[in-house]
Amino acid sequence: MSRVQNDVSQLQELLTGGVLNLLVNVISLVGIVIVMISMNPRLALITLSVVPVLGIIVVIWQQYARRAFIRVRQAIAEVNDRLQEGISGVRVTQSLNREDVNYEQFDDVNKAHYDANLNAIRLQALMQPTVQVMTGIAYGLLIIFGGQQVLAETMQPGVLIGFILYIQRFFEPVMALTMEYTQLQRAMASGARIFELLDVEPEIQDEPDAIELPRIEGEIDFDHVHFSYLPGLEVLHDIDLTVKPGETVAIVGRTGAGKSSMMNLLARLYELEDNGGKITVDDYDVREVTQQSLRQQIGIVPQDAFLFSGTVEDNIRYGNMEATREDVVKAAQTVGVHDFINTMEEGYDSQVGERGGNLSAGQRQLVCLARAILTDPPILVLDEATSSVDTNAERIMQESLKQLSRNRTCIIIAHRLSTVTHADRIIALESGAIIEEGTHQELLDKKGLYYSMFGAMSTPGLESPDN
Ligand SMILES: Nc1ncnc2c1ncn2[C@@H]1O[C@H](COP(=O)(O)OP(=O)(O)O)[C@@H](O)[C@H]1O
Ligand SMILES: [Mg+2]
Repeated sequence: MSRVQNDVSQLQELLTGGVLNLLVNVISLVGIVIVMISMNPRLALITLSVVPVLGIIVVIWQQYARRAFIRVRQAIAEVNDRLQEGISGVRVTQSLNREDVNYEQFDDVNKAHYDANLNAIRLQALMQPTVQVMTGIAYGLLIIFGGQQVLAETMQPGVLIGFILYIQRFFEPVMALTMEYTQLQRAMASGARIFELLDVEPEIQDEPDAIELPRIEGEIDFDHVHFSYLPGLEVLHDIDLTVKPGETVAIVGRTGAGKSSMMNLLARLYELEDNGGKITVDDYDVREVTQQSLRQQIGIVPQDAFLFSGTVEDNIRYGNMEATREDVVKAAQTVGVHDFINTMEEGYDSQVGERGGNLSAGQRQLVCLARAILTDPPILVLDEATSSVDTNAERIMQESLKQLSRNRTCIIIAHRLSTVTHADRIIALESGAIIEEGTHQELLDKKGLYYSMFGAMSTPGLESPDN
């Protein structure tokens, strides 16, 4: 964010004032040099001999300056980062009494920015006196050599006076150009950071010959899938799973077992390695279709319900802009959030606030669920999507889900027994491998992982010990 905001405005400063000034200064410099040389070439060369010296100084200076300017950009980014984190995490900070620690940490970062800036400004300020010293030396050379020629009567005094005036005019644009140059150096530091950002290639790209996935039946196949986020740390081991169209499959497993990872791969939010097996939907490899057409047909309700600032209606309609108000209301009714929305001051036109801050976690989940349903996907994935709603709300949803799952494939990841018992099949995942598979009753009889997670409670509807 810092690159997009601060670095771009740094460039803007250069482009708005700088470029025109640069042009004006270069033209007057060239003009003055031509006039001086035509008046007295020898004297002109002697006085202008300070210019290469200045050039050398600038080249050396630039190496330090560039480093200092880049450091300033990094430091301001860190300040922004801390500030943003501090503000969005203020509740956690307050509840853990971390204000003082955070304040001190912010102070350090802030101080680092201050120091970096001070250093950069010192370097920048060095240029003006340097140019002034050079101007002084040029005057000195002029008086000594020009004065001798006048005394020897080989040059008219008027030429010497003309030179003195021109030297003055000469160093004005030089001074201005050096100032421009420091500005340019600052802008280049920013430019480099902006281009780094622009040059980032998305890791996941459509194949050149990717096809549009036609409307699918909803078959899903994980074919010996291995996957790791970080090299050498495999989180999914040899996952082999076929889900028939229209089937409802529940995936259970402890936190960190790899349930969400499986779904990320299905929607191709992460990429499988070439030797990591294959994932297909209706026999189309997810890597061979366009990401857009794939994701259009997979509705994922994620673990962390994310709402965007805007109205409730905007948020439900997020994935399907063509939906009418009636469609939106119907989706909300289906997931059982309609009554709640009506109690809000402006109903569907109520603002949800930044990240949905005006709603409870459970309400946010329900809105996200309505959002997914509105896109009417052939594959619906609920990734612990109801973990924060109460059992009553969940029961309402269960009913509607039964209807919804009739004509689509459903994958339900849940920690509560009540959510998974009605599934056609239950998959138990442990440390990235499928260890059990069967119906609710079969798995209970097996007395394995599923039994240990849920077995203690034989009555459906009760919460699992995990919760
Ligand atoms: N973006 C990521 N980068 C690195 N490791 C990850 C990432 N996301 C998840 N993991 C790791 O993968 C494993 C499975 O995570 P996940 O699929 O989210 O589990 P869960 O079954 O709780 O949904 C965990 O050990 C987790 O630490
Ligand atoms: Mg998860």
